[in-house]
Amino acid sequence: MIAVAIDGPAGAGKSTIAKKVSESLGFIYVDTGALYRAVALACINEGVSIGEPEAVKTLLPKIDIRIIFFNGEQHILLNDKDVSEAIRSENVSMAASRVSALPEVRAFLLELQRGFSKTDNVIMDGRDIGTVVLPNAQVKIFLTASPEIRARRRMLQLQEKGMEADFDKILFDIVQRDYNDTHRETAPLKAAESAVTVDTTGLALDEVVEKITAIIKERAAL
Ligand code: DC
Repeated sequence: MIAVAIDGPAGAGKSTIAKKVSESLGFIYVDTGALYRAVALACINEGVSIGEPEAVKTLLPKIDIRIIFFNGEQHILLNDKDVSEAIRSENVSMAASRVSALPEVRAFLLELQRGFSKTDNVIMDGRDIGTVVLPNAQVKIFLTASPEIRARRRMLQLQEKGMEADFDKILFDIVQRDYNDTHRETAPLKAAESAVTVDTTGLALDEVVEKITAIIKERAAL
């Protein structure tokens, strides 16, 4: 089995790129951020405050999260309900960043993530894939871009969906999430030792896809 770990900050383009590359290589793509988002949504739905770790811990055994693949797309089920859309809101983004700092939440999601790499060739994206989830991944990539460009991309994505998008607020949230994700004690966001860092700031999507595909082919000897 071949495992490709793609880590990096919010909005670096991990999911768009991982999706395209996995399609062309015939690998499954797992977006692990969706799992943290599902836990955050469960807290919001149940009125559990993320600032109270004990309450979140009590909720975990009542949460069933599953990833299914439907027409090649990842869908995320929270207690049998498809929440793939609901987990994308800005308030879930921020809640996910906060809830992901809890070691119990990270432990809760660990085996679920590892399971995919046992049965399939996988491209998995997140924050700690190369460092913690799949430390033996043959290919590790750290994808990054300036906060401004990431905020701009996020704004365009929201506008395309007809959703409200305020650049300054999005940029503020991105900087805040970067801080949370890199400063937490358990599994903070950082490049794995053997990761190749790709900065996508001045690059078009196709160029990044090409670059990543070439790195994977070379490192995994495909
Ligand atoms: O990639 P994303 O924006 O959907 O992730 C949402 C949050 O989940 C992110 O702020 C940090 C957290 N996360 C994490 O801690 N570890 C991962 N492997 C993936 C996401």
